[in-house]
Amino acid sequence: MSKLLVTGGEPLEGEVKIQGAKNSVLPILAATVLNPGVSVIQNCPRIRDVTASLEILRHLGCRAEQTGDTVTIDATQLVRHDVPDELMREMRSSVIFLGAILARLGEAVMCMPGGCELGPRPIDLHLASIRKMGGEIRETSEGLNCSAGAGLKGCELSLAIPSVGVTENIMLAACGAQGLTIITNAAREPEIVDLQRLLCSMGADVQGAGSSVITITGCRPLHDTTYRVMADRIVAATYLSAGAAAGGRVTVSGIDYRHLSTVTSVLSEAGCAVRSGNDFITLVREGPLRSVRPIRTAPYPGFPTDAQAPVMAALCVSQGATMFVENIFERRYGHVDELRRMGADISVEGRVALIYGIPKLHGAAVVSPDLRGGTALVVAALAAEGESTVTGLHHIDRGHQDIEGDLGALGGQIRRAE
Ligand code: EPZ
Repeated sequence: MSKLLVTGGEPLEGEVKIQGAKNSVLPILAATVLNPGVSVIQNCPRIRDVTASLEILRHLGCRAEQTGDTVTIDATQLVRHDVPDELMREMRSSVIFLGAILARLGEAVMCMPGGCELGPRPIDLHLASIRKMGGEIRETSEGLNCSAGAGLKGCELSLAIPSVGVTENIMLAACGAQGLTIITNAAREPEIVDLQRLLCSMGADVQGAGSSVITITGCRPLHDTTYRVMADRIVAATYLSAGAAAGGRVTVSGIDYRHLSTVTSVLSEAGCAVRSGNDFITLVREGPLRSVRPIRTAPYPGFPTDAQAPVMAALCVSQGATMFVENIFERRYGHVDELRRMGADISVEGRVALIYGIPKLHGAAVVSPDLRGGTALVVAALAAEGESTVTGLHHIDRGHQDIEGDLGALGGQIRRAE
């Protein structure tokens, strides 16, 4: 089993270029199913979730190659319309393939994705949206048998919650639906804007991403494209949190600073000096971190739930107490027990976590509970006095192509060992 060995307690100093965004490239890879030709996706991170997506595309009949950070998908000939169970289980966000497969082939089969470390991951809103577009979905013991019947029809869909995945699934299905689809209360995340840009680069007619109302005019002929994926705002937020936790001076580049302004404003309030430019953010932390006003996770442009764990890790060593309220997922405090092993003083009541800042953390052997919880433990280990080992790296490797290389570039003493 591989593990990360971290020697903490020293300030960081350095600059790192941020990888492509996991939560943008996954729907974009699903979208390549819509184009009966070749789609070239650049700045594609080399992470486990991309590998799983490429396996799904190959299973469907695509040619899918990754060379460095460029992925080439040839979806001219599709021969299947099902997502293999083991890939559905490995990557629950594979439900994002439903809309694209239905739009292209008129039928789709996949098992229920099941819950995960963050709690139940229902897909009721995904299914309700596809049904409203004319999709027929039978839930059997094996999973979901979906067919587009007489073809998907555009319609107005008002989302009960601004779900990222549901918004993306509808965008993809609507590209293959007759007429106009209007999504109201759509998710506004930057990754949705990236998906719209990709779809338009293929010839689709999608407008409004980034706002709460997105309109798609379906059945446009789609053509080949070469598209560069946006940088990963959560990876950038994680590395800035490491700078806040360990102290020193950290620069993340290749990133749009506007995408993580709620995170940088919290880190500024905690006492860091943050300077942003066109495509970089520099954070300097010299004095002690201070507690901040309550942090409530919310849909974009609110504080991102994916940054809750790494920012919490940084605030474990601070003056005063900080309250977190996790409003998006039911169980997203799996990292708290592991942070306590390092000396953190945290109490959790349901969706609320109270962090009592302490002067120092100490190294420990800790286990990643999930992707963002795992990266939070690495952030804490860089601040802690002494040695830490972090296991459960399969979670971290789902979202980070080279976390030890990136943090090493920032001066962190971290290496991977078997
Ligand atoms: C996306 O997940 C991201 N994943 C998540 O990142 C991110 O935390 C989340 O959006 C919120 O920003 C990808 O993009 C691959 P949602 P998604 O649908 O689409 C409930 C990471 O660490 N819901 O916006 O699944 C759901 O249970 C991951 O990179 C329903 O009830 O998130 C949750 O409570 C973690 N029914 C809330 O909506 C549904 O049909 C928001 O989820 C769908 C969702």
